[in-house]
This record gives sequence, C-alpha cells and structure tokens, in this order.
Amino acid sequence: MKQFSLEMLTILALVGVFLANSAESAKVFSSGVVDLYFEESPDGYGFELRRDNVVKMTGIFGKGVDFTNTSPNFNVTIMSVDDGFRVDWRSSDPNFQTTDCLNLQSETLHWYGGPEIYEQKWPIEKLQLSGDDAYVARKDDNFAVPERYWLNSLGAFVFISERSPLFVDQNTEENPDRVCFISKNEGPYINRTGLFSQAYLMAFDEPVSAHRSAVAQFLGEPEELPNVNMITEPIWTTWAKYKKYIDDTIVSEFAYDVLDHGFKGQIEIDEQWETCFGSREFIPDKFGNIKNVVEDLQEQGFRVTLWAAPFINPDCTELILEGEEKGYFVQNTIGNMTTVWWESNDARQIDFTNPEASEWYSQKLRRILQQVGVDGFKFDAGETDYVAQPGVYPHVDQELIPNILTKSYIKTVSEFSNLAEVRSAFRTQNYSMFLRMIDKDSVWGLDDGLQSLVTTLLQLNMIGYSFVLPDMIGGNAYRAQPDLELVIRWTQATVFMPSMQFSFLPWDFEDDEQLKGTEIIRSMVELHTKYAPNIIAAMEEKLINRTPTNPPIWWIVPFDETALGISDEFLLGEDILVAPVMEQGATSRDVYLPEGSWVDGNDPAVKYEGPIWLDYNAPLDVLPYFIKE
Ligand SMILES: *[C@@H]1O[C@H](CO)[C@@H](O)[C@H](O)[C@H]1NC(C)=O
Ligand SMILES: *[C@@H]1O[C@H](CO)[C@@H](O)[C@H](O)[C@H]1NC(C)=O
Ligand SMILES: *[C@@H]1O[C@H](CO)[C@@H](O)[C@H](O)[C@H]1NC(C)=O
Ligand SMILES: *[C@@H]1O[C@H](CO)[C@@H](O)[C@H](O)[C@H]1NC(C)=O
Repeated sequence: MKQFSLEMLTILALVGVFLANSAESAKVFSSGVVDLYFEESPDGYGFELRRDNVVKMTGIFGKGVDFTNTSPNFNVTIMSVDDGFRVDWRSSDPNFQTTDCLNLQSETLHWYGGPEIYEQKWPIEKLQLSGDDAYVARKDDNFAVPERYWLNSLGAFVFISERSPLFVDQNTEENPDRVCFISKNEGPYINRTGLFSQAYLMAFDEPVSAHRSAVAQFLGEPEELPNVNMITEPIWTTWAKYKKYIDDTIVSEFAYDVLDHGFKGQIEIDEQWETCFGSREFIPDKFGNIKNVVEDLQEQGFRVTLWAAPFINPDCTELILEGEEKGYFVQNTIGNMTTVWWESNDARQIDFTNPEASEWYSQKLRRILQQVGVDGFKFDAGETDYVAQPGVYPHVDQELIPNILTKSYIKTVSEFSNLAEVRSAFRTQNYSMFLRMIDKDSVWGLDDGLQSLVTTLLQLNMIGYSFVLPDMIGGNAYRAQPDLELVIRWTQATVFMPSMQFSFLPWDFEDDEQLKGTEIIRSMVELHTKYAPNIIAAMEEKLINRTPTNPPIWWIVPFDETALGISDEFLLGEDILVAPVMEQGATSRDVYLPEGSWVDGNDPAVKYEGPIWLDYNAPLDVLPYFIKE
C-alpha cells in the first residue's frame, strides 16, 4: 500500500514532473493495475481512472479550488488501495469547500446507485439533483435512502464516506452531464471544526465484480433473511383503503373479507390506533375489543402487525413533558423542538442517537406486544428533516450528523425485526429487515406511479438493499383512485418481488369484469407463492454471493449495451426475467431477452434464443416472464 500525502502545491509540482517525463499524459499515481492520471484544466484537475490502461471514469478534481495559493489551507491525501484509490480532503478551515465531479458521459455510459427519489429515473445518469439540498435522508422528494454510491457500466465506482458533509449537484445548468460531489459545512452539517471529505475511486473489469466488491468493502451485507412468512403470503394493510379511519371492527371485517375470498397472510393495522400518536395505547372507544380481535385473527392463521412512527404528538401531554425534561427529543441550534409531520405541526421527534431515548421508545413497543399479542410493527418515517433544522445531536460523533438519526432509528427498531418493515435507511444494509419503498401513488408513470415501482426496485437493490418491500398494490390513492386495470398490472409487477402487499381488495372494484379481476389477481398471488422458494433462494444468494435479489438484467450480461440501459425489466436472482406491462391500455409490450435460452413462463413449450427483442402479447391476465435454461 502506497500513501501519497501531499500538499496540493506538491501535486502541482508532481504533475509537472510527470508531464515532463511522460510522452502520453500526466500519470500521477499507480495502484497495481489501476492508475490515476491528472491533467491541469481551467477549473481544477482533470482526472482519468484507468484499469489495465482502459479509461473507466473521468472527471474534475478540486473544481474551483485555488491551487496557485502559495500557502494552501488544505491537504489532499491520495492513498492507493486494492483496485483503486482513496482520496481525502482535509482543511482546518471549516469554511473550506471542495467539489469533485464525474463526467457522466451519458452518450456512452450508464450509472447505477444514487438516492431513492420521487421520480425514480433509471439508469441514474437521467436524474437531476440540486446541489442546494444536503444529500441526507429527507422526507422531501421521497429521499429516504441516500447512499453515496455511483457505479458505472464500465465497472468503476465512487463511494463517499458518511463523514463527508455532502451535497450532490447532477445534470444542472452549472453541471450538465456531470455529477458533482460538493463537501461543505452548511445546512444540517453542524459542529464541525474543519472540513473532512473522503472518497474511494475504484475500477474493475465490469460492473458485476465492481458491485460485489462494493458490497463487501463499503455497502455492507446482512447475515440472515428476514422472516420468510412475509415472502410466502401477502400483507394486507388497512392504510390505502381506510386511511386513518379504523377501529377493531373494521380490522376484523377487513381480515374476514380477505379470508372469505380464499386469501391469507399478514394483517397490518395502519395508522391511527393510538390515544395520541406515540402513546402506544389503543383508543378505548375504537379498539376496546382489540385483544380478542388479534387473538381471533391469529387463530384464523393471520399474523397481525401494528404501525408505529418515531414521533410524539402534542396531545400526549405527559409524554411530551417527560421527554422534554429528560432530553429525549431532537432540537435545533436555538432549542426549537417543533417536528412537522403529516399528523401534526407541533410534534416531537425521538432522538435515537440518545440510547436512553431509544430505550424509552422501545419499552412502549414491548409493552404493547405483550399486552395485545400483536406479532410485529411497520416502522414509518425516520428521515432527518422532520425536525426543526439544523438538528443538534449531542450524543454522537458530530461528523456523522444528521444521517446518524436515521441509522440509529433503524438500529433501535431492529430489536423488533421479526415481521418488521422500515422505509428509511442509511448505511443499514447489514440489517435483516424489509425496506419498504416510500408511498407510491395510484398513477401509471415514473412520477411515483407503477413504472417507478420497477426502477425503485433496481435502485434499492443496486445500493445494497435486497429485502425490498414494494409499496401497496395500486398505490396509496393520494392524487387519484386506482382502477382495476392499474391494480391488476401492479399485482403482476410485484409477483417476482420479495413480498406482495395489498390494501385495496381486488373485489372492491365495482366493474363488469369484477369477478375476472379477482381471479386474475388470485392467479398472480398463486404464482408468487409457487415461486416463493425461488425468491427465498435469490435472497439467500444475496447473503452468499452478494447477488442482488432483484438485479437489473445486465447483471447476467455486463457487456451487453442494450441490457445496460433497460429500466422496465428486472431479474429475480440470475435466471428469471420479468417484464411487467406498465402502460395503461396496453395489451403487449417490447421485451428484451439477453443472451441465453429463455423459456416462456406463460407457455413452457415456447423457447427463445437471446439476444432478441420480442413484441410480446400480454392481455390483462398475462404477466410476461421468462426462465433461463
Ligand atoms: C497538511 O499536512 C501537513 C503534514 O501533515 C501539515 O504539516 C499541514 O499543517 C497540513 N496543512 C493544512 C492546511 O492542514
Ligand atoms: C453543537 O452545536 C450546538 C448548537 O450550536 C451546541 O449547543 C452544542 O454544544 C454542539 N455540540 C457539540 C458536541 O459540539
Ligand atoms: C420552530 O421550527 C418550526 C419548524 O420545525 C418552525 O415552523 C417554527 O417557526 C420554529 N420556531 C421558532 C421560534 O423558530
Ligand atoms: C450493522 O453495522 C453497524 C456498523 O456500521 C453495527 O453497529 C450494527 O450492529 C450492525 N448490525 C447488524 C444487524 O449486524
């Protein structure tokens, strides 16, 4: 391992030396087969990362930094590591900023990773990200899982430390066809004495080995599967259908409706069951009989779970007093504790970075588990921007602010990981919990509708989260009500994902086709059950070989230019390819099958030799899927 610890002036000198001594270019650093070349440019240093002399990634290093200053107030350290380099920026001046950019080269390259976001475009060179917003777990823009990982189709990636005070500017007017990683101590990044920023630049032969290495070295991985009952049987949640207007009779009727139509699974009581949000006590008038209902549903073969959020609402007066007195809530730099969420404008957010506050939160959940005998929880929210900004977190390493809130929340609730789901995450790929996609809406498009279900699946898998819970089938009916066609297509899209979650019941749709609709959906649930062993095996592959459970199709053909750009197909493991119909009114779709022999899932007598494009006939009752021989 070589370490190049230099003041930037020395780098300048070195660049000069290499320029003078090298005919081709300004080769500066070498790390085995991977080399980093620098070249002076008007706005920083241009760089190239090469493996075996093939250019894998290019960009600008130190954009806007004054390298001519004779007494520089910063240091850059470049360290060679296996397959790449680690670059550290350090300055004792807290106002120092750095900007390092990658050229997306979207004409010839594709990129994977990046944040979960409302309009989940894929591959991610299509995303636009504003450098005005801190790159942290935010409720805004569905930005609930902001991993700092950009992987390209040539097998190079950048991974940025959780300690960097990061802002990301991509495809803006200032940075077209570029992603710029800006480190500056602003916004939620408080209490830092200087600037520290660290990135790894790594290069491999192709993106599969690159990603496996990223999982092992940087992203992290779980050791076991979540509860497989969440895979084999659907989840039925009250939310989209009833919203918060629920009681124990409704829960029971909802479950019996499911049962009477021949289905089973997990009943989820979502969302308003508490006397005040955060009390963890059932509203007596509405849920007086809940213990019996839960017991009865369990006897009928259901599992029953409860919704929980990390907030305490103002009408929980005693809890508010206790929490404020003991310092259990997050406050900002002027002592403001006001937390705004969808059920209050003046709530409090539990400070999970404080171990005592976490314990206070968990105790009440343990109590309700014991009192009522429910089986688990759905954990909502957890992003860092519900609290008054900037949040202060006195109990932790200040360089980890604010994403440490999200991380600590996940760690706290992992005690209840059996049957649990969370929806925000940061560097928590090693937990064996389902990660739910943020609420989807009842529309078809990439604007948080059905099409974004597939792209979000790909995105979460490619930042290391494989135990993905798609959101409610048919969406949440926020902007629009779903119709039967949307619900059927949505059901089909989730068949080969780890879990199926309903809220609207198929037979709720008053339609001439009503009966047929229910039967189509039943056949899809049966298909999911039939393939549950394959889903479980694919989730186990994640543990064994670091293969994402639902990878993009290029995973099996990493040199296939067409496959590298596909955003509306996905794999289950390495041998089932799924191409759901996601366009309103469509009865066929184009399907790309990469190299290999593919058996038609709908007709095993039919076989295709890839690579091939099919115009595949898919009326409402058909989900196109193919099995690799
Ligand atoms: C850079 O590093 C050198 C050697 O560790 C140190 O003497 C110097 O003070 C550092 N400069 C800055 C601006 O941090
Ligand atoms: C962080 O900043 C806040 C507000 O400026 C201050 O009250 C607190 O003491 C600081 N905490 C640490 C650990 O530096
Ligand atoms: C406290 O924060 C909330 C938002 O979280 C804001 O609406 C309110 O104006 C703030 N109050 C003060 C006194 O700054
Ligand atoms: C996940 O990794 C973190 C360290 O980043 C550790 O604190 C935590 O205990 C791990 N959790 C599990 C379930 O392995």
